Amino acid sequence: MSPFDFDAPVDRSGTHSMRWEKYAGRDVIPLWVADTDFRAPPAVIEALRRRVEHGIFGYTSPPPELRELIVSRMARLYGWKVAPEWVVYLPGVVSGLYMAASRLTRPGEHILSPAPVYYHLFRAARYAPRPWTDVPIVLDAGRWVWDEAALASSVRAESRMLMLCNPHNPGGTVFTRDELARLAAFAAKHDLLVVSDEIHCDLLLDEGKAHVPIASLAPEISRRTVTLMAPSKTFNTAGVGVAYAIIEDPALREAFSFDLKKSVHDASLFGYEAALAAYRDGGAWLGALLGYLRANRDLVEATVARLPGVAAAHLEATYLSWIDCSGLGLPDPHAHFLAHGLGLSPGADFGAPQFVRLNFGTQRAVLAEAMRRFERAVLAVKQA
Ligand SMILES: Cc1ncc(COP(=O)(O)O)c(C=O)c1O
Repeated sequence: MSPFDFDAPVDRSGTHSMRWEKYAGRDVIPLWVADTDFRAPPAVIEALRRRVEHGIFGYTSPPPELRELIVSRMARLYGWKVAPEWVVYLPGVVSGLYMAASRLTRPGEHILSPAPVYYHLFRAARYAPRPWTDVPIVLDAGRWVWDEAALASSVRAESRMLMLCNPHNPGGTVFTRDELARLAAFAAKHDLLVVSDEIHCDLLLDEGKAHVPIASLAPEISRRTVTLMAPSKTFNTAGVGVAYAIIEDPALREAFSFDLKKSVHDASLFGYEAALAAYRDGGAWLGALLGYLRANRDLVEATVARLPGVAAAHLEATYLSWIDCSGLGLPDPHAHFLAHGLGLSPGADFGAPQFVRLNFGTQRAVLAEAMRRFERAVLAVKQA
């Protein structure tokens, strides 16, 4: 039996949880923003407890051991040889997306980003601000993949950057080596930089699937890529504040980091502690978590599959189901589910208003009640 009890109820009230506070005092199950209701691995909790008890929380340098852990993790999981100096710490992946779009392109240079996608990816180009094109992510043989013909026809002489989200949020695609090799060849052909948000890289739900960092494919693509990763989705530590970019090319790294301090704060000392403990001792916990999430995913997919008017492609990764509600014929699916006691993420936030995103990173009993509400909400439409 697993020593980790993901069924144990956790009361998050009073902790300023963004997810739970949004609907506090209402009978709404909040399954929106991407954190989970699972306590972090015991090793992480213990490391943070020890650090808190020290009682001094001054300016803190990144621990050299963390850099080594990241380097050995990339080698062990992906056969990717990363040099320690390629790692640039950030308080969060989102800061890295905005830094990359604004610092690594010049005004007038064009950015290609997928759509739908996690909203900070497409906002990064808009706020830089740079001209951009949203390239459709389309359903092909049950997987959300790049529309490669649309990608080819969207590129311009002034295109400079391709944004990638792997695994994809929303939609959960774990891009294959071949798919990534085609994107890498495209980037080389058009001399594009690649910004690859790989924050969900550990949350692979299908056994036999492997995450491939695009930069690990070959030196040619590594030299033009900024890879963004963090322990925060994997170990449920989004509030502690640490992420990192991996950038091989020294000039690119210099441009990315040049005035980083002017724009964002250092990563948090608690982030460093949590990352060290998670990467060193969190493996068994992660294995158990993936088993639990897999069963949650199966529950969501089975419910959606037997209901009329809704559909979801099989989710390969993440704990975020991407549900097509267009068959319900509703002007605002998110509002409809909210009226039935479910707080989901509106698909409109990702560029697809007829979808909702459901975060199933919660206790099975909570999810089971959520799926009963989901079913009632869907059937209420059909009866209307
Ligand atoms: C694809 C993706 N990137 C980045 C983030 C957030 O990153 P951070 O909290 O490190 O800024 C999320 C959170 O949901 C995400 O899904």
